Amino acid sequence: MENTTTLAIGKGLKTEKMPGHWVLARLGKRVLRPGGMQLTRRMLDALRIQGTDNVVEFAPGMGVTARLTLELAPASYTAVERDPAAAKIVSGFLKGERQRCVVGSASDTGLPDHSSTVVYGEAMLTMQTEEMKRQIVREAYRLLKSGGRYGIHEMCLVSDNLDENAKRETERALTGVVHHGVRPLAISEWRSLLESEGFEVQSVDTASMSLLEPGRLIRDEGLAGALRFAWNLLRDSEARGRVLEMRSVFRRHRKQLGAVAITVSKR
Ligand SMILES: C[S@@+](CC[C@H](N)C(=O)[O-])C[C@H]1O[C@@H](n2cnc3c(N)ncnc32)[C@H](O)[C@@H]1O
Repeated sequence: MENTTTLAIGKGLKTEKMPGHWVLARLGKRVLRPGGMQLTRRMLDALRIQGTDNVVEFAPGMGVTARLTLELAPASYTAVERDPAAAKIVSGFLKGERQRCVVGSASDTGLPDHSSTVVYGEAMLTMQTEEMKRQIVREAYRLLKSGGRYGIHEMCLVSDNLDENAKRETERALTGVVHHGVRPLAISEWRSLLESEGFEVQSVDTASMSLLEPGRLIRDEGLAGALRFAWNLLRDSEARGRVLEMRSVFRRHRKQLGAVAITVSKR
């Protein structure tokens, strides 16, 4: 298992009931988004973060993208994370007054109107209800100055024409193994959601949904990180059961699932 800070993640929950992303984090996995680091980098490139930007990250999780953003030396960085243990991990590497992580919901951050130039969030909208997805997108809009950019990186349904039954069945299977709502949208639906809240689409990028495939694990976590994850898996049969179950459902639905990064701007 991981160090004590990581072990605070999901504390008090039984492995069998824990949301899938916390099972993975406790096993040492850092990258918890569907399109991996490659799609993250493409989203960050499209957001063009510079020294003059005030950046807000929704749901930083273990803070992997936060570190990449901080390397770009924005004027300020604020993360809004619902989970106190994850927020503590992220706060641990933030420095000075212009970098902070607050515990709260991205749907109601309490941050001032028009206070940021860039907002982004990864693997956090898919897990929300339809209404909550909209509230979070609306909150991003409220926080941004005119001309500001918003980036999302989420799971998607690859086909626009998946019938409702197939969609529900995919959602049910994913939710059943992740133990948290998982409601991916088709790319056209993600676009419509963003456009209906006033944003203009700037870029759309896709990747495969290979979160738990060996090649992706090595690319995302590095060889040492992937080996540590595998070692932790070997030592924990309950967590191993959960991970194999998730991977098997991801594989079974791989023809329907993908990852998408969309960047938009506020007029
Ligand atoms: C699947 S993890 C993704 C973490 C990270 N963004 C990544 O891609 O590796 C989902 C994260 O979203 C956070 N989260 C979920 N709903 C949230 C909300 N309404 N506001 C803030 N954070 C939220 C969870 O606590 C968790 O850290």
